[in-house]
Amino acid sequence: MMEASPQYLLFSCLLICCITTEVSAVHLTVSPSRSQFFEFESVTLICEDENRSDGWTVRSNTTRGVGKRCGDEWGEAAGSTCNITLFTFDTGLYWCESGSSNSSCSSSSSCSSSSCSIQLSVSGSVILQSPVLPVMEGDDVTLSCRARNPTHNLPAAFYKDGSFIGDGSAGSMTLLHVSSSDEGLYKCSISGSGESPSSRVSVKASNSTVSD
Ligand SMILES: *[C@@H]1O[C@H](CO)[C@@H](O)[C@H](O)[C@H]1NC(C)=O
Repeated sequence: MMEASPQYLLFSCLLICCITTEVSAVHLTVSPSRSQFFEFESVTLICEDENRSDGWTVRSNTTRGVGKRCGDEWGEAAGSTCNITLFTFDTGLYWCESGSSNSSCSSSSSCSSSSCSIQLSVSGSVILQSPVLPVMEGDDVTLSCRARNPTHNLPAAFYKDGSFIGDGSAGSMTLLHVSSSDEGLYKCSISGSGESPSSRVSVKASNSTVSD
């Protein structure tokens, strides 16, 4: 006879709460650590939880499809690591998901932007090298604009939320002591080479505690 005793219900709830906490504690690491790449560059995505478990899968929303698993039409999976050689149609969102769960990242209410999904953009011509993870308030952030051809550093123009913010004679510009007002969508352009995709720069308060 099955009877849902109060103790059983409490136990179930605790179990679900523990699993939820576990899910929120995964971090997606990108190596090299940036959000824009040239076509045919290789990138490694690593899902890490505090137990370094192998039970995570990297999934993506790209023009290849919604929620596609690494190793299934894109990338090569090894444990909780995914290696990809990027094509322009790999531009999109990437996140970690527990192998045993079919739910998408958005259903886990405790996801934070740093551990939940990240946006990667792939370009054939110009990329903006900007931090993929939120930067600490007060830090200096260097933005670099790179052309695929020629590969030496060229003068670049930088834009935030569509407005011109400055030139970098050697292709770089530094945002000094960033604050929340520096948050936004950044892109750059190199005369004769083209424009980069846009990437978000997020700033987290220096007094905020890291929620693991
Ligand atoms: C992926 O796309 C689906 C369908 O549009 C959406 O429901 C889901 O929230 C997306 N995932 C992320 C991490 O944005």
